[in-house]
Amino acid sequence: MKNITIAANWKSFKNVTESRNWINRLSVDLASIKIPPYVRLIVAAPFTSLYALKAENDKLQLPVDIAAQNISAFGPGAYTGEINAGMLGDIASWVIIGHSERRNYFHETEKELSDKVTQAKKAGLKVIYCISSPDMTVPEQADAVAYEPLFAIGTGKSDTPQNANSVILDIKSKTGHGHVLYGGSVKPDNVGEFLKETEIDGVLIGGASLDSASFSQIIIKALEI
Ligand code: PGA
Repeated sequence: MKNITIAANWKSFKNVTESRNWINRLSVDLASIKIPPYVRLIVAAPFTSLYALKAENDKLQLPVDIAAQNISAFGPGAYTGEINAGMLGDIASWVIIGHSERRNYFHETEKELSDKVTQAKKAGLKVIYCISSPDMTVPEQADAVAYEPLFAIGTGKSDTPQNANSVILDIKSKTGHGHVLYGGSVKPDNVGEFLKETEIDGVLIGGASLDSASFSQIIIKALEI
């Protein structure tokens, strides 16, 4: 059985109370389900929710890794408003870097993204690095890659599992990275089709992860493949 990553990306949604409710509800929904060791669950939350989410997750003893959605390209210093990787060391174990929304709306450059990866690794964070095509650069130190075609993000129109599989094969051969997720309009009713493909090692889920019932459905479907 291949290792599978199922990652939620909440984007700019949920305050602290909503975040606590989400993970408590997930815990109820998954109470009778044993998450096998080949499945890794990640939730990428806003900075403001990370501490509360980590505390709740520890209390509930869920097998969920907490992730940030961004970090500063700089270390500690006079960078007003920035959250650096070292600040996340005890509340998150992963960080998403290079999401297309960061590239498009915040104009993050390849240099900044590569600096962010360097900062993340220095602080011991694991990195999910997002790209939208196989021609984009992936820093060597990334721990997982997410292929997220622009047409599929938040549109309800996913890529086909077959095309995603062949693009991911291409990404693996061009970058040398071995663990590549698909992201873009993944939902409970299509996740199984993606995960059945040989090269797709997991999914990164935005919209359909916001409701914990939908996210737990995705997990349950993933366990059925
Ligand atoms: P979506 O977002 O599932 O809402 O399409 C995926 C992502 O942007 O990571």
